[in-house]
Amino acid sequence: MTRRLTFGMLTVAMITCLTLSFSNTQIVRAESKHHHEHDLLEKSIKTMSSAFKAIRRQTRTKSFGVSTQKQIEKMQTAALIAMHQSDDDFANNKQMVIEYRSRMANAIKKMLDIELALLKGDKDDVVTMINELNAIVKDGHSKFRDDD
Ligand code: HEM
Repeated sequence: MTRRLTFGMLTVAMITCLTLSFSNTQIVRAESKHHHEHDLLEKSIKTMSSAFKAIRRQTRTKSFGVSTQKQIEKMQTAALIAMHQSDDDFANNKQMVIEYRSRMANAIKKMLDIELALLKGDKDDVVTMINELNAIVKDGHSKFRDDD
């Protein structure tokens, strides 16, 4: 009887250990996925930011060229990644996700139009749309970023 009891307790202890170590693994996995996503988001923002600075600098003299084309392409790809970030703040708030993605989508649409204007050599249109993009970004930041 005592033996059976000991055996039973050992079994329960083993099951508990296995369950705990499994759930720990899950937590570690979830955390590293979260870190990975956040790193990716940070990298995308940095890419967008430095490309946009370079383009805005060229806007002053309208000196657009191959490098401008490359910068706008980089921005589009980075913005698409930033658009699909799934931070915890957002994940549970559908209205916020819709609002955030709409604004990001508007920014990306503008970037695509800028690319085409660059290709066609419509420099004045490029300048106008860079300013419009700047307004979309400022508006997005004042709504979604804590400090701006
Ligand atoms: C050309 C487009 C954009 C550029 C260049 C840009 C640039 C930046 C920069 C420089 C930061 C600060 C990063 C830091 O704190 O180290 C940032 C953060 C942020 N931006 Fe933008 N942004 C763009 C578009 C947008 C749009 C359209 C939205 C809103 C829909 C947005 C929402 C945010 C948010 C929420 C953060 C804070 C992210 C965080 O700290 O986790 N951005 N962005």
